[in-house]
Amino acid sequence: MKTPPLIAPLGPNDEEAVARLLHTALVAWYESRLRQGARFGESHEPFRIFPRVYGALDAGEGVGARDAATGELLGVCFIHDRPTHVAFGIVATAPGAQGRGVARAMMEPALARARAAGKPARLVSSALNLDSFSLYTRLGFAPHTLYQDMVLTVPTTGLVVVPPPGAERVRVARRDEAGRLANFENAQRGVSREKDYAFFLRNEVGAWRTWVLDDERDPTGEPAGFLVASHDPACLMIGPGHARDEATALALLWRALDAMRGHTPVWLVPCAEAGLVRTLYAWGARNVELHVASAVGAVPPARGITWPTFLPETG
Ligand SMILES: CC(C)(COP(=O)(O)OP(=O)(O)OC[C@H]1O[C@@H](n2cnc3c(N)ncnc32)[C@H](O)[C@@H]1OP(=O)(O)O)[C@@H](O)C(=O)NCCC(=O)NCCS
Repeated sequence: MKTPPLIAPLGPNDEEAVARLLHTALVAWYESRLRQGARFGESHEPFRIFPRVYGALDAGEGVGARDAATGELLGVCFIHDRPTHVAFGIVATAPGAQGRGVARAMMEPALARARAAGKPARLVSSALNLDSFSLYTRLGFAPHTLYQDMVLTVPTTGLVVVPPPGAERVRVARRDEAGRLANFENAQRGVSREKDYAFFLRNEVGAWRTWVLDDERDPTGEPAGFLVASHDPACLMIGPGHARDEATALALLWRALDAMRGHTPVWLVPCAEAGLVRTLYAWGARNVELHVASAVGAVPPARGITWPTFLPETG
């Protein structure tokens, strides 16, 4: 039996090795299981966005597993401790080291800390990936919400579909709104992460746009919804966000998509939102994968519509 790996925090000097490991692990897994390795491109360079964003957002919370003899990086796992929960971001093990308990060894200490703090642990993982599904469910995660990953190529001249009602009122968030967005999300789904929204609105690492739809009639001053989009070429993705209802979700999504002209962004939408999904099909959106949100411990039932994201996976 091999010596157990050494588990230690990742630092800024690990950026190159982390990007290489993420790229290699994803290409190898998707190519061997789904013949879709090409999806991740030929270079590890775009994967630098993960250690960069996570290093800026949660410095010292990325964990690496290293070979005890050679020091070689065998695995990475990103942890996001928030007031209401502990979230797990991308987890990956080098292809040659898989099936030896590396991912479990990286995740168990953070799960123990979440348990000791009385917080649930949350993550979103591919429903097509039996290896990660098995890892997470063996660690106690129970799936609760299924999402479909959708893509749409936005013409360079903008969306051709007629803007849904409310799209004209969607505006860019102000720098001082992080607390307002975080309070709304916490009230809707029991997830508190003001730190993330402050990070997007500072917009110093990555390239974020945050859209808001207000409800002038709401006496509490809560927004009807908000939606963040990553415009970094390494990650063209819409989310995270939360909307009170389907009409708000459509208005926000139309605005966020129309701002990505000439690109093909991906976003996740709850499969249970059949009306929303039907409209997105009518807009020309296509499914590319399925993801499932899971938790260890009780999580409050969500109201409204949530968009999770792959970067940063903090909710
Ligand atoms: C998913 C991934 C991180 C797993 O890493 P790993 O280091 O091989 O995982 P571990 O060896 O620690 O744990 C795997 C667990 O799944 C279990 N397992 C694997 N396949 C299984 C199956 N079909 N049914 C039941 N259990 C299964 C193993 O027994 C083990 O559980 P145990 O520790 O209780 O015995 C790795 O496959 C990977 O890097 N994949 C590519 C990147 C990726 O997809 N990341 C996830 C993004 S959502």
